[in-house]
Amino acid sequence: TDPAAKIVKPLPEHLMVRHDGAAETRWDSMPAQGDTPADRFFVRNHTSTPLIDAATWTLDVFGSGLRDRPGRRDAVRFGYDELRSMPQVTHRLLLECTGNGRRLFATQQGETTPGTPWGLGAVGVATWTGVPLGAVLERAGLTSSARSVLAVGLDPEYVDDGVNHGRVRRPLPVAKALDDVLVALDMNGEPLPPDHGFPARLVVPGWVGVASIKWLGEIEVADHELSSPWSTTYYNVDDEALTELVPKSVLELAPDAELAAGQQHRLTVRAWSGSAPVTSVEVSTDDGRSWSPADKVEDGPWSRWSYDWRPQEPGRYTVLTRATDATGNIQPSRAPSNPRGYLFGAVVRHPVQVV
Ligand code: MTE
Repeated sequence: TDPAAKIVKPLPEHLMVRHDGAAETRWDSMPAQGDTPADRFFVRNHTSTPLIDAATWTLDVFGSGLRDRPGRRDAVRFGYDELRSMPQVTHRLLLECTGNGRRLFATQQGETTPGTPWGLGAVGVATWTGVPLGAVLERAGLTSSARSVLAVGLDPEYVDDGVNHGRVRRPLPVAKALDDVLVALDMNGEPLPPDHGFPARLVVPGWVGVASIKWLGEIEVADHELSSPWSTTYYNVDDEALTELVPKSVLELAPDAELAAGQQHRLTVRAWSGSAPVTSVEVSTDDGRSWSPADKVEDGPWSRWSYDWRPQEPGRYTVLTRATDATGNIQPSRAPSNPRGYLFGAVVRHPVQVV
């Protein structure tokens, strides 16, 4: 593999849009049903994909929140086979990059921010199999004093503007770590592909993608708050480390698609949220003046909705979709501005030609 490529898998142009150290799924290659295949699942690397030998790899767990394991030298070492021999669980879970939709800050709000210029394809759903993080921490000797769990990746150290920030790492509060976080070994029934974290990664349901540390090498469990540049500088807004994903919805139609006037068209929408399931999706075909409910046709980590539309007059239309989740979060017409362009959750304006 070419180290300059940063990503190992081929990234065919009809499936993926390539960025520097990253690639997003084309929405027209997202399967209508089921999971995102690994060949077109988005990739986001701060540096580059390491190639790791599972036979010699270990996951080292240590820290003041464990019994008698204060430092790295005292770590409990888990090998690949040991993780495989622990009770496995399988969950369908959504993963989304914090910056997904960043380009829309520019196109819809006139706000240009640095970072990967994602469209809306830095999101995917896969079936992940592995060991609950809680089971790993229990086996390592978790105590009731534990407060913070810092996962560290084995990819090369991240240098930004001449500053070396060390290995990619990010803390989780112990309550989240013990709730539903997975140490994943398989993606869609196969060992993780190198780009997606082989031999083991975290998958942190409902949280910003950066929490789901790939290529796990170390987990520090501390009896005090831990931090990293990925919680204090990056993926942070107004001194708050970002956690839950916001509601989003995407119209599954090419921009400027041509639809015949006088005929009925079934529009489909994909919607998801980090904090709770999406409970309603509304569609506007008149630029947001009026909204009509869409029907749910599929449940899951992202749900699918349909709306039948019979446009009468030819012309240019803007179709909008708006999701609401069970906690009452609703997509706003404008996303809150922030300097690095995170969590673009505003209603997306979708141009359509009726001919
Ligand atoms: N883990 C490590 N070790 N290094 C990384 O660069 N990128 C994070 C996260 N985990 C990253 C990482 C970010 S920003 C995202 S969005 C997800 O991995 C992307 O996961 P994927 O590439 O499997 O889609």
